[in-house]
Amino acid sequence: MEAGALVPITDICRHFDWRELFGNDHPVELDLGAGDGGFALAYAQQHPEINLLAVERLLGRVRKIAKRAARAKVTNLRVLRLEFGYTVRYLLPPQSVSVAHILFPDPWPKRRHWPRRLIQPDFIRDLAAAFKTGGELRFTTDHEHYFETAQQAVAEAHILQRAPEWDWTADPKTDFQLTFDAEGRPTYRARWIRP
Ligand SMILES: C[S@@+](CC[C@H](N)C(=O)[O-])C[C@H]1O[C@@H](n2cnc3c(N)ncnc32)[C@H](O)[C@@H]1O
Repeated sequence: MEAGALVPITDICRHFDWRELFGNDHPVELDLGAGDGGFALAYAQQHPEINLLAVERLLGRVRKIAKRAARAKVTNLRVLRLEFGYTVRYLLPPQSVSVAHILFPDPWPKRRHWPRRLIQPDFIRDLAAAFKTGGELRFTTDHEHYFETAQQAVAEAHILQRAPEWDWTADPKTDFQLTFDAEGRPTYRARWIRP
């Protein structure tokens, strides 16, 4: 396996040391549920001024991202194979993250599965605790109902403030985005900041 971008999990009870992980003090951004890493790889290359941690639970995907990062010599991307709820709750140093990208998370469309959706008030409180002042959550989904419940969940957490959309047209498009665009299906996005 390409070790370069892979984050070795030596201690799951200690916050990350970003300087140790990236070798510099650049602002840290997260890609939670990175999938095949299309966004993470392109975004990290587009933004050499930041450090990006991609979190994904599927080993095959994580391996692929690390391999592609090594081939493309992307030095500001690290890939962590772990559950993102655990990562956010236990491993992120408080007040240290600038931006969290959540792109097309699993929508869990069946009613009985809604509690499995990532964006819930507790998760938002954990994430907000990791944000610096001004830290932001950028969320994109194709699922209208998830978009509505996500907005309710963030409001219920009483910690992040809704903000105008970021310039998402400048962001690399994931395969999901390209597919929905090609099919003419709408996608929804929202941005919140920690005041
Ligand atoms: C629908 S895909 C979206 C991938 C990517 N963000 C994109 O837009 O192309 C959701 C991804 O989240 C990952 N995922 C789901 N639950 C997770 C969890 N609890 N922890 C980490 N990754 C998870 C899945 O394995 C999958 O790769």
